[in-house]
Amino acid sequence: MKTILEGRPRLAAEINKVAETAGYLWQKGWAERNGGNITVNITEWIDETIREMPAISNVLPIGTTLPLLKGCYFYCKGTNKRMRDLARAPMENGSVIRILDDCAHYVIIADQPVLPTSELPSHLSVHNYLLETGSPYRASVHTHPIELVAMTHCRRFLEKDVATRLLWSMIPETKAFCPRGLGIIPYQLPGSMALAEATIRELADYDVVMWEKHGVFAVDTDVMAAFDQVDVLNKSALIYIASKNMGFEPEGMSEEQMREMSIAFHLPK
Ligand code: 13P
Ligand code: ZN
Repeated sequence: MKTILEGRPRLAAEINKVAETAGYLWQKGWAERNGGNITVNITEWIDETIREMPAISNVLPIGTTLPLLKGCYFYCKGTNKRMRDLARAPMENGSVIRILDDCAHYVIIADQPVLPTSELPSHLSVHNYLLETGSPYRASVHTHPIELVAMTHCRRFLEKDVATRLLWSMIPETKAFCPRGLGIIPYQLPGSMALAEATIRELADYDVVMWEKHGVFAVDTDVMAAFDQVDVLNKSALIYIASKNMGFEPEGMSEEQMREMSIAFHLPK
C-alpha cells in the first residue's frame, strides 16, 4: 500500500509520534475500545505534491466555520478506531484531511478514506483557536485517564481550581510540567459543538481541560508533550488515591512550598 509518508521523513516522524503516544494511552488503560482521539496540524510538512492530491472522500461538513484553517492539513485518528491498532498502523486507523476554502468543509486525501474522529468539532475548533492566538501548539489529545475522570464524580473537584491545587500539591513536578493546571468543563454531549465551544473558552487559561465524567483534552507543541501534561496530572491523582487507600488524607505541599516552586521555575500562576 502506497503511503503519503514515503519520502517525507519529517511528516513520517510526526505521525510516528502519534503512533507511539497511542501505544502509551493503551498501556495506561486510558484507551478502552475506540476511546480517545488525537489530531495534529501537519500543514508545515505539506508539500506541493500533497496539495495537488485529489480527494478520496466526499466533501464533508465540519459543523462550523473556522476561518484560520483555510488550506490546513490535519492527521486525525479515525472514528471508532482503536488506539492500540493505531499504535501499529497509524495510516490505517487515521487519515489526512484538507480543510476546503469555505473553511466549513473538508475532504480526506490520504492514505485511505478513514472517517475522522467524532470529536472533530472540538479538535478543529481548538486548532483554529491556537492559530488565532499565535500559539506554537500543533497537537491535541483527548483521552480517558481513569483516576482523573473518577475525580469528576465528586462535586468538590468540579469547582474552579480545586482539583488543580490538590494535584499540584501531590508532587512538585506536576506544577512544573503542567503549569497552567486543569480546567473543568461541565458535562456536555460527546462530539457536540457545545463541547467544542466550552473547550476553546477554557483553553484560554489551561493547556489541559477536563470534560466532566468523560475525559481530558490536552494541547501542546506536539503529541508527546500534550500526553506528558496529562501523565503528570494523572500521576498526582494516583498519589492522592494511594494515600487515601493507606487510610489517610494526604498532607500536600504547603502554600509556601508551592510559591517557592513557582518562583524557582518561573511558572505563570
Ligand atoms: P472516536 O472513536 O470517534 O474518536 O471517539 C472516541 C471518543 O473518545 C469520543 O469521545
Ligand atoms: Zn472520549
